[in-house]
Amino acid sequence: MLDSIRHARVEELEEGSLASGTLVGPFVKRLIIAIDGPSGAGKGTLARTMATRLGYLHVDTGAMYRSVAWKAAQDGLSLDDDAAVSALAERAVLDQTGGKVTIDGQDVTREIRTPEADKAAAAVARLPRVREVLVGRQRALGANGAVVMEGRDIGTVVFPNADMKIYLDASAEERARRRASDVAHTGGKDSLASVQSELVARDKTDSTRTVAPLTLAKDAIYIDTTEMPFEVVVNHVMMLLIDKLNPLG
Ligand code: DC
Repeated sequence: MLDSIRHARVEELEEGSLASGTLVGPFVKRLIIAIDGPSGAGKGTLARTMATRLGYLHVDTGAMYRSVAWKAAQDGLSLDDDAAVSALAERAVLDQTGGKVTIDGQDVTREIRTPEADKAAAAVARLPRVREVLVGRQRALGANGAVVMEGRDIGTVVFPNADMKIYLDASAEERARRRASDVAHTGGKDSLASVQSELVARDKTDSTRTVAPLTLAKDAIYIDTTEMPFEVVVNHVMMLLIDKLNPLG
């Protein structure tokens, strides 16, 4: 019974009744939804889909670190020069409307998804002042709620009081497999073994750095997506959201 009611609500959301303006039940609220986890766990797909279904803003904070790193390299800055890179992060015009990532008006959607860009982003994401600047910009983007924000420190640092925190994970093998088959990311050219070793190395950088390392927030819902098809993950999270906001029993 409860499941059939929940399913009906999930179907309503899938049909986009919210996005088309028929706000129902608890979703009139402008929630902050934080999605964290390592690369390749499926954060992007989940965040984008939830944002579309809820009619919320989707913010990919990894793309912010990536575009700042890309621009810093273009400008010939050293990627460990916190003062110079953070000054750039402060003044840059960042935009990711319509799935297109731009920095200072330049479309970098493809450029920021190369193996070099992976390394450059991880390097600038270690810099304390760069993080401070980008965290400030992320808080401003989510200040009015109605946002699904994905990253590594959203539920721990950016929005510790987020209404819902999801931590997505998957085995390193599965994450590498997803990454290697992601044409937008690698061009589909890199071998699985090389993608996996790069990914494991980057996980290590992200989770051992001194400032805002990737960690599981105490109140986050942990989901291992290794064996879960994408639709199952989305529906599971949407049901959790409905249950959380509108307990049925
Ligand atoms: O999610 P991604 O792979 O696009 O992230 C790119 C890099 O930026 C990665 O090394 C992790 C880092 N990052 C971070 O430190 N904090 C965030 N909120 C998002 C990404």
